[in-house]
Amino acid sequence: MKIEPINTDFAATVSDVDLSQPLPDDIVAGIEQAMDRYAVLVFHDQPMTDDQHAAFTRRFGPIDKGLLLGSKRKQRLTNAEVIDLANVDPDGAVLPASHIRNVSLIANQFWHSDSSFKNPPAKYSILCGMDLPAQGGQTEFADQRAAYDALSDDMKARIDGMVAEHWAYHSRNMLGGGGYSDAEMAALPPVFWPMAHTIPGSDRKSLFIGIHTREIDGMETAEARMLLHDLLEHATQRQFVYRHEWRANDVLMWDNQSTLHRGRAYDLSKLRELRRCTTEVVMSDAG
Ligand code: OGA
Ligand code: MN
Repeated sequence: MKIEPINTDFAATVSDVDLSQPLPDDIVAGIEQAMDRYAVLVFHDQPMTDDQHAAFTRRFGPIDKGLLLGSKRKQRLTNAEVIDLANVDPDGAVLPASHIRNVSLIANQFWHSDSSFKNPPAKYSILCGMDLPAQGGQTEFADQRAAYDALSDDMKARIDGMVAEHWAYHSRNMLGGGGYSDAEMAALPPVFWPMAHTIPGSDRKSLFIGIHTREIDGMETAEARMLLHDLLEHATQRQFVYRHEWRANDVLMWDNQSTLHRGRAYDLSKLRELRRCTTEVVMSDAG
């Protein structure tokens, strides 16, 4: 397996490994080490079935079973561990722009950490790109360790010990999405996480914010939202960002505890098909 950094400590390209095949423990350990250092890994030319995708993901921890919120459509994939992010109906036709599924797909264009609104939250996400539009639709990542390091000492002291509320429906509300059932809303109550935490594998500190954060414990809403907004602006400056231009059969793997990511806009009438499989943080590992 070959690992070539894209930036010194953020994002690397990994080659000479076939993710569709069962991997020996030392290769899995090597990928974990690379994740601790680079936080985002890019693998090219890795076609995988959904079962192979899930089997690879399972090597890194228990799977976070997700659904696209408000996705009132028949599941297209048979493997419930793999999240279908395609903008298509079960027959494969591109959805009309007005389809409720597009609210969740567009919500992925806000800077976020997957499932930060769940307990346990997501650790690694592994995203396979199948069919990507010719224009737009890139995926960007922001290094939250570098963003933390670049805060002033005063700001570090201020936010160390602060706890933020993460709520799944905050981003959907911002897009004017509605129509979620009481049962759907009740299934995802807000959760609370420290705004800065230590990543166990690297001992580096990282910011932990994003579009799912709505409140800060013990702070007035207006002040909290502005602080979260300012921190997000800080955390997503271009010097912290890697932008991925997709090729078919690319696989991206990222650490949701130390990065933020977002999709970029694309023409919704064009097909965009990706599938994601995600692990949960095992709470004894959490920083
Ligand atoms: C995701 C996600 C962004 C994209 O898969 O979790 O946010 O570019 N994807 O589709
Ligand atoms: Mn995501």
